[in-house]
Amino acid sequence: MERTLIVETIKKTGEIVHVCGWVNSLREHGRVVFLDLRDWTGLVQVVFPAESLDYEKAKRLTTESTVGILGLVQERPEKTENPNLATGKIEVLAENLEVFSKAQPLPFDVKSDGREISEEKRLQYRYLDLRRERLKNNFILRHQIINFLRAFLTQEGFVEIETPILTKSTPEGARDYIVPSRLQKGKFYALPQSPQQYKQLLQVAGMERYFQVARCLRDEDPRADRQPEFTQLDMELSFVEREDVMALNERLLIETVKKVTPQKKIQEVPFPRISFQEAMSKYKTDRPDLRRDKNDPDLLAFCWVIDFPFFEKNKEGAWTFTHNPFSAPQPEHLEWLMNKERIGEIITTQYDIVLNGFEIGGGSIRNHKAEALKKVFEILGRPEEEIKTNFGHMLEAFSYGCPPHGGIAWGLDRLVALLLKEESIREVIAFPKTGDGRDLMMDVPSEVSSEQLKELGIKIVGKEDEKQKR
Ligand code: AMO
Repeated sequence: MERTLIVETIKKTGEIVHVCGWVNSLREHGRVVFLDLRDWTGLVQVVFPAESLDYEKAKRLTTESTVGILGLVQERPEKTENPNLATGKIEVLAENLEVFSKAQPLPFDVKSDGREISEEKRLQYRYLDLRRERLKNNFILRHQIINFLRAFLTQEGFVEIETPILTKSTPEGARDYIVPSRLQKGKFYALPQSPQQYKQLLQVAGMERYFQVARCLRDEDPRADRQPEFTQLDMELSFVEREDVMALNERLLIETVKKVTPQKKIQEVPFPRISFQEAMSKYKTDRPDLRRDKNDPDLLAFCWVIDFPFFEKNKEGAWTFTHNPFSAPQPEHLEWLMNKERIGEIITTQYDIVLNGFEIGGGSIRNHKAEALKKVFEILGRPEEEIKTNFGHMLEAFSYGCPPHGGIAWGLDRLVALLLKEESIREVIAFPKTGDGRDLMMDVPSEVSSEQLKELGIKIVGKEDEKQKR
């Protein structure tokens, strides 16, 4: 018989249904077994009176086992209705019980919100942790947001294009994850810290409105708002100025909130714009939390932070970029860049979008002229040869008719976590890594066989050294 989703049972009074799911709870009361059955759509009460065929079988069930039940949907007797349950007015009178898989006792409770359980344990058994209602709802909202973003951008003439995962290092300020090549021994791919270079090359290719829900990989220490693997809503547009990108993104954020979390209030529209200087002098941070009432869980205070310095000195006293080396300077500072003068005063076209004190996105208008991009790398002290090896393809591409272009990337995990009032992005990523970059469930990273290493031409020296020292 065809399966009925639990949420649909309310409409089926008087009918026989086949419901499937997990045993959420089980109790016996006056020789009747009451079973709360849970599926993706909700909970329903199933009753097995002592005279029913599978009464004894039901008594031997364990919670969290998976079962299929054939039964009659009937109205609950008066005064036994449960107003807290969507299906609280009905119950299923069981006629047949099929046990798909009996569950042994779980390592922890999956009916609570999970905050009382250690994170190590939760991540080790993430497939059980994800059974809890809170996490299920987090992933439904995440899906709704991504779905809305895709539909909105498609409507605006954007096309989603996938870019490679096996690629070349692109400077985003973090360490790369590298992957050895078997066919080109001694050479390595880098996993993308972002699709930055590809999305710019797509502009050279004439893909005027690109977007991607893109996985990015950065070898940096995880924090509550940082994971080694995370997701960006990445976009790039041709023939635009800063205002165009900012206006489109502001509209998109407002519409997303309206559509997906309508209970939230945006404090100020248009979003306030704060210069980097002002943010630092007034709030001592470039991610100011502008909420007027920090206790209001539904308040969203967006702001743009703009006018960042392009370059700053690192500890060694050399120039480094503050955000993105591919950014263009403000038009009035282009001359300084070209002459490599007043370097510390050059302001970039970078714009960051901040929400309640978290940077949820950043982008800029790019240097679309090869000479200007080359100057950036020269200021960064990169030798001519290295510029050619690492960025020669960009410089050459820009020489074949490059449109002025710009874009932005949102940290999707951060946005979803903030809209859900979750303190960590780990609560909105299905299989996140621990603070020390491990996946406890799959035991990752793990060792590989010596055959695999040999095939790749790789020798682990660290370990041998350690052994010798012992
Ligand atoms: P940026 O490096 O600022 O810009 O990244 C964009 C946004 O991605 C989010 N983010 C992260 N989220 C979770 N974990 C991380 N480790 C992490 N790192 C960054 C932040 C950030 O604002 N290519 C440029 C974008 C562009 O210029 O178009 C880039 O990647 O919310």
